[in-house]
Amino acid sequence: MISLNWSHSWSGRTVEREAQSRSSLFSGKCEERLRNELEQGTLPFLSLPHRGDLIRELDALSAGWMRFRHMLIVGIGGSSLGGKALIRAFFREQDFPCYAGKQIWFLDNVDTERLEVFMQKLDPAETIVVPISKSGGTIETLAQYFMLRRWLCNSLPDSWRDHLLFVTDARKGYLREEAEREGIASLPVPDGLGGRYSVLSAVGMVPVAFAGLPWKDFLDGAASVFSDPVRNPSQLTRHPSWMLAQWCRELYEKAYSQLIFFCYIPAWSDLGDWFAQLWAESLGKNGRGTMPIPAVGVTDQHSLQQMFLDGPADKGCLFLRSSGQTLGSVFPETIPDRWRWLREKHFGELLQAEALGSAAALADKGLPLTLFDVDRPSLRTMGEVMGVCMLATVLTGWMLEINPLDQPAVELGKRLAYTRLGASEYPEEAKILDRFLNK
Ligand code: PA5
Repeated sequence: MISLNWSHSWSGRTVEREAQSRSSLFSGKCEERLRNELEQGTLPFLSLPHRGDLIRELDALSAGWMRFRHMLIVGIGGSSLGGKALIRAFFREQDFPCYAGKQIWFLDNVDTERLEVFMQKLDPAETIVVPISKSGGTIETLAQYFMLRRWLCNSLPDSWRDHLLFVTDARKGYLREEAEREGIASLPVPDGLGGRYSVLSAVGMVPVAFAGLPWKDFLDGAASVFSDPVRNPSQLTRHPSWMLAQWCRELYEKAYSQLIFFCYIPAWSDLGDWFAQLWAESLGKNGRGTMPIPAVGVTDQHSLQQMFLDGPADKGCLFLRSSGQTLGSVFPETIPDRWRWLREKHFGELLQAEALGSAAALADKGLPLTLFDVDRPSLRTMGEVMGVCMLATVLTGWMLEINPLDQPAVELGKRLAYTRLGASEYPEEAKILDRFLNK
């Protein structure tokens, strides 16, 4: 179970009463929009219509994975960050000493050295390569696929296709064409469920299933968050995602331009990167939006916290914590007197105390702070947390009157790079490059 605690949310320049009266302007519109979009099927991440198919398809495919030791996930942005957060949180053993089991790797950058090392060190015979791309045309993903395909073909000329699984659009895009041409196994990314909302599809679930984890729990967690608004859109304003969106809109209105995502569940430390991408790509539009800052407790108490506490008063904080984390062993009785208050305490009690100290210090500075409480870290509760965040992001976008599902501004940089490499179909981009290079 998760819950949001608002005791310290309305501080600094934010006033709950004002925020509520402003958001009542949006409530009718948002409820109607939710109802319409659900009817039209444009928000599949809420209604999860693909769930039955995903369970069947993934169960059927995963039976053949026993023979692989390594899964190489090739994807970027929303096609990697959700799965990576889940694997880092729930398949931690692969990063622990003396581990010798299955491994899941994420190739999510144009990182020449890393790719070369993987091709030198991994045995293709025990590896499955999984390119993930909703569009099927993302250059960073395809470029790595082209290199890995040659690597597989050279070592396994007769069976290279059996070492590939594509996760891509059901009908279009280069990867879909390649899957059909070569007879490569594939799983679909449903329409309307690409990118940063795709963790609820095969995009997020393939690595979790490969790890042998109960991946359906994650979907159950997310579905439990969405069930009320899907059943009854007119109750939307009672939903925690609505309250979160209302708070985030108010932060924006009151010139809090940055939103800290402070995660005090160390195993979930990659969740902040997932949240940052969800928030930034969905909401940075038309000069609007707030900048997400992922931070990990307690590590970033020794890095970013000074700025949070004593820098410009332009930040709100979403603070994730869990009292259900493993406490570990008790400190030795022999520890020096100076730290005698640690005696008879468990190691994990230090984390709990530091989370409390950090939250109290932020609140004491007047920084608007919403506490996100997770009773026990599990796939199900991570599904709940991600579900609340996804719906809150969409609602914040609606309140700010921007489209939370696209990301048009990022295209320019890609076209400029293609032009630099020789693509001739972008004359305007060629001019921009000239201007930049000749200044
Ligand atoms: O959230 C998004 O939509 C993006 O970050 C995409 O996930 C990213 O650009 C990769 O796109 P694709 O899945 O089409 O390769």
